Amino acid sequence: MLLHWNTWELKRTIGVPLPRSRAAMEDWLVESSKTDPWKDGELTLAITEKRSGEFLGFAVLRAIRSPHNRGRLGISIYNPQNRSKGYGTDATRVLLWIAFHILCLRSISLDTFPHNERAIRAYRKCGFKRVGLLRKTEFMDGEYCDLLIMDILREEFMRDYPSGTFVGPATDAS
Ligand SMILES: CC(C)(COP(=O)(O)OP(=O)(O)OC[C@H]1O[C@@H](n2cnc3c(N)ncnc32)[C@H](O)[C@@H]1OP(=O)(O)O)[C@@H](O)C(=O)NCCC(=O)NCCS
Repeated sequence: MLLHWNTWELKRTIGVPLPRSRAAMEDWLVESSKTDPWKDGELTLAITEKRSGEFLGFAVLRAIRSPHNRGRLGISIYNPQNRSKGYGTDATRVLLWIAFHILCLRSISLDTFPHNERAIRAYRKCGFKRVGLLRKTEFMDGEYCDLLIMDILREEFMRDYPSGTFVGPATDAS
């Protein structure tokens, strides 16, 4: 059952403040499940809790482009009670492993609000580095806000996870 995806708190961290109908969300899910990274430039994966199978959220690679071989990462854990338990870090590492070992991408970037300290901490743990700020670029809560850009290169990830290695199950996320 899809819950907690339409909250103001979540939407203001991912920068999409408009409410979305359940029907629109379900349509998006169906369409996302059909995307092919090579044809559509997008890979969307569900994050689930391994033992219970509980659906936790999504991790997405977007804007996968050849010949640049880059992509943009996005992630959301919906239920606030499931945050800060390591799932986001695990899921991000798994998506990076897929990006670099399977899709053979060279660079993954993301943007986040500078006040989203939990997200920044999780991204840093996965090896993302700060690139810089896009100043006053996102309209949110009645004002234009900065966005922090972070990225990670293939060679940086491969130092920790060279060919033949896998992302270990630090928690029970999958
Ligand atoms: C961002 C998100 C994916 C991170 O996933 P998560 O499972 O909550 O994160 P993790 O538990 O793997 O790691 C979070 C880290 O931040 C720390 N943290 C939590 N709150 C923090 C805060 N206010 N300030 C600094 N660090 C904080 C945690 O302690 C943990 O670090 P640690 O493992 O060293 O103790 C998840 O919280 C989420 O979906 N949030 C809402 C949507 C969102 O912000 N998406 C990202 C948009 S760019």
